[in-house]
Amino acid sequence: MNDKKKYVLVGSGGRAEFFYSAIATSFRDTSELLAFCDTNQTRMEYANRQLTDRYGYRRVATYKAEQFEEMIAKERPDAVIVTSVDRTHHTYIIRAMELGCDVVTEKPMTVDEKKCQDILDAVERTGRNVRVTFNYRYAPHHTKARELIEDGAIGKITSVHFEWLLNTQHGADYFRRWHRDKRNSGGLLVHKSTHHFDLVNFWIGSEPDTVFAFGDLLFYGKENAEQRGVTKFYDRATGNPNAKDDPFALPLDGNDNLKALYLDAEHEDGYQRDQSVFGDGISIEDTMGVLVRYKNNAILTYSLNAYLPWEGYRIAFNGTKGRIEMTIVEQSYVNSGGEKSEEGALKDRSITVFPMFAAPYEVDVEEGEGGHGGGDPVLLNDIFGVPAEDRFKRAANHIDGAKSILTGIAANRSIRTGQAVRVDELVKFR
Ligand SMILES: NC(=O)c1ccc[n+]([C@@H]2O[C@H](COP(=O)([O-])OP(=O)(O)OC[C@H]3O[C@@H](n4cnc5c(N)ncnc54)[C@H](O)[C@@H]3O)[C@@H](O)[C@H]2O)c1
Repeated sequence: MNDKKKYVLVGSGGRAEFFYSAIATSFRDTSELLAFCDTNQTRMEYANRQLTDRYGYRRVATYKAEQFEEMIAKERPDAVIVTSVDRTHHTYIIRAMELGCDVVTEKPMTVDEKKCQDILDAVERTGRNVRVTFNYRYAPHHTKARELIEDGAIGKITSVHFEWLLNTQHGADYFRRWHRDKRNSGGLLVHKSTHHFDLVNFWIGSEPDTVFAFGDLLFYGKENAEQRGVTKFYDRATGNPNAKDDPFALPLDGNDNLKALYLDAEHEDGYQRDQSVFGDGISIEDTMGVLVRYKNNAILTYSLNAYLPWEGYRIAFNGTKGRIEMTIVEQSYVNSGGEKSEEGALKDRSITVFPMFAAPYEVDVEEGEGGHGGGDPVLLNDIFGVPAEDRFKRAANHIDGAKSILTGIAANRSIRTGQAVRVDELVKFR
């Protein structure tokens, strides 16, 4: 009898490889991939070539997006992996559960409160499981911060000061493609910060109560560039001489992966992966500040900027018995434009504990093999392998998925209205 867990995957773009390569290699004995589903046949063909030529797996069936239900009926998977554009996640998450499947979804679980409520209701109605793949939780230094706090190294957490920096390579990438339209991604406070707000919920063992935020587009976009004296503009980098001297340009014909996944596929859907970050039509922010009160009364001050000289973050946890400071410098990368192992790789890190009445000390964290300091293989094993008992309960479900986006969704509303937003007013958990 074949007792492998059977999967289909929706959205066979850049991120999808993280999942299908894992099933095709390390987790062949416990998991099986049956099909891809996407709006774009060329990208599904690319994924199939990767499966066969790079990972020595077999070719799987392909279904266009409108054939999703037909795919579920024919392939009869146990679970659906959702790695499509954020705006579309809820459709597949809900329909998959209604058709009797569990779900493994990329972050953000979805982009606004209505879609979030629809997902929460569908879980109640169907009794199926949604797993949100928060890979950051699994990075050893992140787990270590949780352990220190849980073990009482600095007492009860009273406040957190968290500054996340996206650099001119990775940060810029959100302004080149679908993310730049807030309807697709919820803006960076949802799309990107869902990782960060999930970590805060996970670290301090609480959830957001009230949120206030400011956010603006102060660097990218045509108007900002014009004000800095830029005179050469272009719509897309590939083949445009005006892009030649722009350090933010990403010509797709200069990279085999980007060409195969996007340039060769765009005749089907017009998806341009290389738009100018200094073009018009950007509706997301690049400069954001957020203030959050948590249900345990802790206060978070958070900032996110997307055009900085290095990538990573600084965080300080203040508690009733001391303070923890953590600095993480990440390797910069372009999604699907470089080595997979570089994605989220660490260049530098430090964790320092300052007890209230004793000498400060450094905490050493051993990093493992694989992405995110060795966190990615543990996450993948949790999903596709035989999960080990986890003291830190890092496997995230739909509730974690919701609580991590609600801070950003509330922040978006606060930016629009100028008012503080109560998270309880956005969705109801039954
Ligand atoms: N956790 C992480 O570190 C991480 C990293 C990168 C991306 N992601 C997530 O993965 C997801 C995909 O991002 P990506 O970088 O691969 O983007 P991408 O643009 O490379 O891929 C998205 C794919 O979705 C397909 N698609 C678009 N509309 C669709 C629809 N209606 N139905 C089915 N498929 C559709 C596109 O054709 C494309 O193949 C996003 O949700 C993103 O947040 C997570």
